[in-house]
Amino acid sequence: MRWMRAAGRGLLVLAVVLTGYVASGAHADEGADGRGPLTLATAGDLTGYLGPLLDGWNRAHPAEKVTLVELPDSADETHAQMITDLRGGDGGRFDVLNIDVNWTSEFAAAGWIRPLPRDSFPLSGFLRPVVDTATYDGRLYAVPYVTNAGLLLYRKDVLDKEGVQPPRTWAELERDAKTIAPKYGLDGYAGQFLPYEGLTVNAAEAVYSAGGSILGDEGERVTVNSDAAREGIGFLARGVREGWIPKRALTYKEEESKQAFQDGRLLFLRNWPYAYAVASAPGSPVAGKIGAVPLPGPDGRGRSVLGGSNLAVNAHARHPDSAARLIAYLTGERVQRQVLTRGALPPVRASLYDDPALVRRFPYLPTLRTAVLSAAPRPKSPHYDQVSLVVQAVVHDALTGRETPESAVRRLARELAAVSHR
Ligand code: GLC
Repeated sequence: MRWMRAAGRGLLVLAVVLTGYVASGAHADEGADGRGPLTLATAGDLTGYLGPLLDGWNRAHPAEKVTLVELPDSADETHAQMITDLRGGDGGRFDVLNIDVNWTSEFAAAGWIRPLPRDSFPLSGFLRPVVDTATYDGRLYAVPYVTNAGLLLYRKDVLDKEGVQPPRTWAELERDAKTIAPKYGLDGYAGQFLPYEGLTVNAAEAVYSAGGSILGDEGERVTVNSDAAREGIGFLARGVREGWIPKRALTYKEEESKQAFQDGRLLFLRNWPYAYAVASAPGSPVAGKIGAVPLPGPDGRGRSVLGGSNLAVNAHARHPDSAARLIAYLTGERVQRQVLTRGALPPVRASLYDDPALVRRFPYLPTLRTAVLSAAPRPKSPHYDQVSLVVQAVVHDALTGRETPESAVRRLARELAAVSHR
């Protein structure tokens, strides 16, 4: 068993390095060796896989048991609850934080999470774009855990009957959503359009797909006032106005939109890959009837926003050595495979996307890899939370028709400038 010996050696090296890490980052209330029980906080576990996965760790590490704290499904609410906890007197209850990729800078700049020693977390096997999301100011503040990229899910059975290919452009999507969906009693198209982080993602994808941007220079410059942004927001607003995006989609987060698709009520859905995996699982009413393609754009392939989450250690973690060991465990090859097979979440390790057995079981993996590798980060800003709130509020007004896309883009430019120069 050569691989086991090699893995054993790897673990030994890791243990030595991590012990060194603890020694250098010693904290008053940690155990003598920085080891002991932990709490892991995460946003809602939509596929219910994480508890059972952590049971594996708990059985093997009885003195370093992890307690899972599941926060709400909505990224914004999870963000608010984590911050409230971190700001609490003693640095909070959460030792390990599963943070959205776009929170790393904010958490690091605020001193809530501690820098991690790069040598303890070799990142060469990770997909390239995910590593950037874990660094701030040239230092590693988290380890990539799950990645994500938006895909267009479609009803293959319906498109096959109509003899059409899945849409590659917005015009094709719009045409099919308008003309084919009603024939089958379906709603045309939906994404996540409730005002929350999901709407920021959907709006950014529309703007990026049209060739535009929102902020430049790490948030110093507002770049949203462009024809591309008007086109992107106009595409979504037109959908609602013309009815091929149903009004009820303005209340959808990931789960509600997935449910509409899974119940057989939607022809097209923008969602993360977990929705494809869940909707195609045995027992789903649309199992065997769906497909997934890259997001379309105005003239061809569109651009997805990079999603996912990273694992970080609370600056006041009670047992930082155990926290680092748990992170190494969760981001290692074996558990990353389970993140996909049990959690239906896109892993961060590049080699899994080439694994023939996994590709057979999850046929969307090659499409997903392309989408992740070409995905764009969300606007970068030290005030990201406020940037996102502005985008959600203004784009929602454009979708409900309270504001034209033109005036929405002007307002975005104004309000984003105010946030950036605060
Ligand atoms: C998914 C993504 C995350 C994003 C969120 C928005 O959880 O992985 O990055 O912020 O959706 O709703």
